[in-house]
Amino acid sequence: MNPEHEKYLISNYAKPALEIIKGEGSYLWDSSGTKFLDFTSGIAVTNIGHGHKHWIEKVTKQAKELTHCSNLFSIPEQVKLAKRLVDKVGPGKMLFCNSGAEANEAMIKFSRLVGKKNAKEKTTLLVAENGFHGRTIGALSATSSPKYREGFEPLLDGFSFAPLNDLKSFENLVNEQTVGVMLESIQGEGGIRVAEDKFLQGLEKLCKDQNLLFLLDEVQTGIGRTGEFLGFQKSGVRPDAVAIAKGLGGGFPIGAIWISEKWSDIFQPGSHGTTFGGSPLACSAANSVLDVLEQENLILGAREKGQFLKAGLEKLKVQYPDLVNVVRGRGLMLALVLNESPTRLIELLRQSQLLVVGAAENSIRYLPPLTVTKNELQEGLEITGNALSLIQKDQRK
Ligand SMILES: Cc1ncc(COP(=O)(O)O)c(C=O)c1O
Repeated sequence: MNPEHEKYLISNYAKPALEIIKGEGSYLWDSSGTKFLDFTSGIAVTNIGHGHKHWIEKVTKQAKELTHCSNLFSIPEQVKLAKRLVDKVGPGKMLFCNSGAEANEAMIKFSRLVGKKNAKEKTTLLVAENGFHGRTIGALSATSSPKYREGFEPLLDGFSFAPLNDLKSFENLVNEQTVGVMLESIQGEGGIRVAEDKFLQGLEKLCKDQNLLFLLDEVQTGIGRTGEFLGFQKSGVRPDAVAIAKGLGGGFPIGAIWISEKWSDIFQPGSHGTTFGGSPLACSAANSVLDVLEQENLILGAREKGQFLKAGLEKLKVQYPDLVNVVRGRGLMLALVLNESPTRLIELLRQSQLLVVGAAENSIRYLPPLTVTKNELQEGLEITGNALSLIQKDQRK
């Protein structure tokens, strides 16, 4: 590791084991020339793989024409992207920003505007426990785990937490201050905990009956990752607003919220904004991601390849019942949940040139690019099987 890393970078991230300098398709290379199978996708970002030719061409062309001009002006790539996203999500409008946390900030601010209509003061959002919405103060206030909150309190008032998939608990929390419900359709950082269809449908009904906003954070579950364009679409529910980011730019920072038709004019000039939001370059990156998703039929591919990977992980659970507790997730957003800490397994996988991401509850996330091949998935499964076998042998010594 470069000694200047620690010297010049604030240590808010865990000390990295590798220095990465190149990516292509499903692979990354470190500075010593070692090649790794990348099942992290930069934490669910490079959904079209590293260095996709179409993405490079489009982004390079746009960089030559115009990188940034701000929202003082109408930006053709932004309008094009907004139209494409509205076509995919539902009747409504888009607001662009630069990250997942920022998208959630905009969604929280949206709920404040709605809650204060008609001289009322409804500001409380009901949020799922064990969720993750980002590190800014607003998004962090919507995140229940002490591990993220500690050291940063007092956070914002106006968030009440209830367990995921426990509709009664959400119902019981509703009071005259409640403005809406906000959650992930699959909790990513929380260890790939899937919100059940029935639960999401129950929340949708609760929101309709009680006149509440139904807000979904699709930052990690978006852009084809789960086998739908957005994760909630499998459940057939209709939210009032959705936050997206991560995979949208294929590696270039961009976030967005979609707001349904009913509410899409609630932000008025001057009420919200960001200098970089929806820049020509960011939107050309996102448009090229959507091109690739469509041209290569990656959403359906994520569903099929996800089934293949999940079946392989399930086999490992059967083979190593003492080590593996459960396999969770959908599409190419899967977790192998261990009975104990996954630190050793993650390290062994890295030594065998497979990169995965840890998450809460002893889980390891498998987030390969949607362009991954079955051979690459098979290779990842074999590496995982060998590492589990090694751990089991060590434990039986
Ligand atoms: C569901 C969810 N929401 C929000 C965020 C925050 O996104 P960002 O890191 O781009 O701010 C994340 C990041 O992991 C996430 O998984």
